[in-house]
Amino acid sequence: MLIRKPADIRPSEITSETNYINRRDFIRAGAIAGGSLIAGAAGAAVIPDTRQAALSGIKKSEFSTDEAPNSYEDITTYNNFYEFGTGKSDPFRNAEDFKPRPWSIDVSGHAEKTGTLDFEDFMKPFDLEERIYRMRCVEAWSMVIPWVGISLADVVKHFQPTSKAKFVAFETLNDPKQMSGVRWGSLDWPYREGLTIEEATNPLSILAVGIYGKSIPNQNGAPIRLVTPWKYGFKGIKSIIRINFTSSRPRTSWNMAAPQEYGFYANVNPSVSHPRWSQARERRIGSGLFADKQETLMFNGYGEHVAHLYKGLDLRRNY
Ligand code: MTE
Repeated sequence: MLIRKPADIRPSEITSETNYINRRDFIRAGAIAGGSLIAGAAGAAVIPDTRQAALSGIKKSEFSTDEAPNSYEDITTYNNFYEFGTGKSDPFRNAEDFKPRPWSIDVSGHAEKTGTLDFEDFMKPFDLEERIYRMRCVEAWSMVIPWVGISLADVVKHFQPTSKAKFVAFETLNDPKQMSGVRWGSLDWPYREGLTIEEATNPLSILAVGIYGKSIPNQNGAPIRLVTPWKYGFKGIKSIIRINFTSSRPRTSWNMAAPQEYGFYANVNPSVSHPRWSQARERRIGSGLFADKQETLMFNGYGEHVAHLYKGLDLRRNY
């Protein structure tokens, strides 16, 4: 994964986040008539992108953190989505015309129910929940994101995997016409990820379809992406078109690209350094350019929910 260049540092990190939001609100105040203001956990007003549809019937979740979420601007303009380019602001700039509808998801493999479903039909059986989660990127930066999503455990149960299903594999759309980055060989496309069936059915795992109560923007993985908050962000595969229940461990994009640097499990672990940098600390996006880095927590602070999944596994070897 590329290391951040000075050109990627955005104004929201130089200005303190609150001042930055206030200034944006002030600038936008005249332009927005009747636009909804959503109060973030920190009490900061955040104006969602008006192109995104409001989602309804969202339940709160006991799994949400009470840490202050990052601004909508941070979350939607500082991204990794190599299908739209490798720079942090490329996805925001290059995914604008991407069409997340019509969209279908193919469910295959060792399950009683399989087939290709329209996104709307895929979503029907499931309840929407808000999950405010920390996200720790393997590049040593982090954010707090108020996702809206569905429980992956519910999705897995719905399709009734058989006893042969030990893993769940995911794939992203691979469309060079719409995704300019796919025309370059930065990765072996399509982007692929996978979880063990136990990880996929852990209550923390979700498929996210929204941010800040509105449908998820293209650059964050519209219309649906994986979120596993105890793992490095690269496990959170975006714009999913395929879910496959497999008996063997699926190949995953970053592990294929650099197996010595990126493992299959990719659990956040401050004591296992990346070969090129330490994972002990992280820079919280929006905390200001000169703010101290904060300590990275084992399993990104979600150990009470997930540590049991890795009992007896050597996490230095199985990183
Ligand atoms: N999914 C696809 N299809 N392509 C990508 O390049 N990047 C991953 C992950 N999912 C990526 C992807 C990485 S490295 C990170 S850190 C997160 O998405 C970033 O998610 P965000 O941009 O919503 O913060």
